[in-house]
Amino acid sequence: MTRHFTKDDDLTPAEQAEVLALAAELKRTRFTAEAPTPLAAPNGVPRSVAVLFDKPSTRTRVSFSVGVAELGGYPLVIDAGSSQLGRGEPVEDTTRVLDHQVAAIVWRTFGQDRLDAMASVSRVPVVNALTDLYHPCQILADLQTVIERKGSLAGRSLTYLGDGANNMAHSYLLGGATAGMHVRIGSPEEYQPDADVLKRAAEVAAETGGSVAWTADPAAAVDGADVLATDTWVSMGQEDEYDARIAPFLPYAVDEKAVARAADDAVVLHCLPAYRGKEIAAEVIDGPQSAVWDEAENRLHAQKALLVWLLERS
Ligand code: CP
Ligand code: NVA
Repeated sequence: MTRHFTKDDDLTPAEQAEVLALAAELKRTRFTAEAPTPLAAPNGVPRSVAVLFDKPSTRTRVSFSVGVAELGGYPLVIDAGSSQLGRGEPVEDTTRVLDHQVAAIVWRTFGQDRLDAMASVSRVPVVNALTDLYHPCQILADLQTVIERKGSLAGRSLTYLGDGANNMAHSYLLGGATAGMHVRIGSPEEYQPDADVLKRAAEVAAETGGSVAWTADPAAAVDGADVLATDTWVSMGQEDEYDARIAPFLPYAVDEKAVARAADDAVVLHCLPAYRGKEIAAEVIDGPQSAVWDEAENRLHAQKALLVWLLERS
């Protein structure tokens, strides 16, 4: 059966560990004779991967394009606005057209239901490149970065401060729990994580020895954390709410005071793009504990690993 990656717990804990180990290996062997090119067909012709965008992107667009090329394939990058999907062609019809021609489909869109509809009919792996609900490829890159800095994931604490109801918060909950981490979300009451996601993450954590928690108290959320993460307070599609969304989040900024409350050697993460002086202070993102540039680079390695892993099972 074709495997998809529509949300973080589509990989079991053992599978997530395999993908992360492969990501480290692909990073180490990049551009060497050892680097695999599974997207090159036996006759040397590149197989294609469709990378579709219903929302803007820099990192995801670059890392999937570069990654597919490095695996010997051809990245077919399509902005939905210039496709029939953007004019209302049913997701299922577009999927059937694509899956007869490409080896995998990567999609950044709005509703998770659209991605799930694609996965339900696709004969090739479907990968979530961000929805309103999850951003699981980003979390793979973040976990790879934490392993690089800390050596391991299980048992470590990860605090996310900011919009607890957005895709990054939800993927930290599910992906962090899958890795056996202790995930704490600190957010305003009115921007809490989705109850079903929190419940599912708690179930996963119960299996892995991790834990998940939400609190409105930013200081309690951060206390002693090994990893301190944040994200924009205004996600794509929420631009009209900009003015209303800033004030409630001010106490949840990742500034020098927040970093001082975390563990001494805490790693600071931000998926980017970042808004200095809002969710993260310039001194923090540009400071010694920030790992954001490695985190951005690891999108490439983690996604290559994910594609290799999924294609081996398709
Ligand atoms: N972090 C991330 O997904 O960035 P882009 O929106 O630039 O792809
Ligand atoms: N939460 C952000 C993530 C951007 C990579 C958004 O959805 O816009």
